[in-house]
Amino acid sequence: MSDQPPPAYAGPQRVFSGMQPTNGLHLGNYLGALVKFVALQERFADCIYCVVDLHAMTADHDPKTLADRSREVAAAYLAAGVDPKRSIIFVQSAVRAHAELAWVFNCVARMGWLERMTQFKDKAGKHSERMSVGLFDYPVLQAADILVYKATHVPVGEDQKQHLELARDIAQKFNNDFGAPSGAPAFFPLPDSLIEGPGARIMSLRDGSKKMSKSDPSDMSRINLTDDADAIANKIKRATTDPQPLPETKEGLAGRPEVENLVGIYASTTGASLEAVLADWGGKGFGAFKPALAEALVAKLAPLAAELRRLLADEAALDQILKDGAERAASIAEPVMADVRKIVGFWGA
Ligand code: TYM
Repeated sequence: MSDQPPPAYAGPQRVFSGMQPTNGLHLGNYLGALVKFVALQERFADCIYCVVDLHAMTADHDPKTLADRSREVAAAYLAAGVDPKRSIIFVQSAVRAHAELAWVFNCVARMGWLERMTQFKDKAGKHSERMSVGLFDYPVLQAADILVYKATHVPVGEDQKQHLELARDIAQKFNNDFGAPSGAPAFFPLPDSLIEGPGARIMSLRDGSKKMSKSDPSDMSRINLTDDADAIANKIKRATTDPQPLPETKEGLAGRPEVENLVGIYASTTGASLEAVLADWGGKGFGAFKPALAEALVAKLAPLAAELRRLLADEAALDQILKDGAERAASIAEPVMADVRKIVGFWGA
């Protein structure tokens, strides 16, 4: 084999992303990822959005509710504006190639790479020996999700950055180890994460140093997509701030993480830039800002919650969308997996 790296990946551009079906979605999922899923449909002809139920098994899960939780996430994609005619929406376990490619990648990824993953360390805390092997291996399955479609762009929140870097490392090592015939382009693309804007890192409403998360024991720390107007107003009213008025410039947000978070939520909810929000609100107090923020959130989330309820009421229609989506997804993944089987030398491939 030559020492030259293979020419760069030359396939089509494709978007892939996913969310776990665990305990309902929150504002961080919405602003960090879901609004981007919708917007990217205008920029890319080929978008695939997955409900990652295999990932949801890595922590405690209840077999009785998993399928319903998956439907809820799919319904949230649709309610937010993902169009099932243009984009593919499906549930991960319905396309077997994800798990198969994950095994191949288990034999490509190195222990040391996974041991560096901060999300595992955060979730496992001091008790890593009691965690499932699946939780440790989680980012390898995530790499398989993306690469089984040869996806080139992955919209996620900032907390997924390290997992996306790992996916690139796995793709690169697979390309190097199994090499394309001399001169042929690389087999897998090195996927780019799309992490931008103030919504990429939404923090807890109670503590500006922690991200908004489903696993936070306090429901006051997050806005759930299904919260009603009163709950939203109450949570924003009680959100931690400081006694100073809002600053007039971005520099004035330094050292005020809770304020930065609320301004970021306002900016990404209304589609304004941070600068524009501060130009309007700088010098004013939170007594005026918080009701305006709650109003902006209700204007965005109330129609979404209503649409979510409407979609969930027609389970057969939702399941049909997921079934079609799984078929379309499998028709892209299967030929990639067939090539992988040949490349790694499986019998009968
Ligand atoms: P999950 O289910 O934890 O979160 C779904 C998406 O929401 C984003 N997010 C946030 N963004 C901003 N602020 C927050 N506080 C916040 N909390 C969550 C996440 O970054 C994510 O984009 N590992 C993924 C799921 C996954 C995946 C994939 C993603 C599995 N396979 C392949 C992309 C590509 C996860 O746990 O997301």
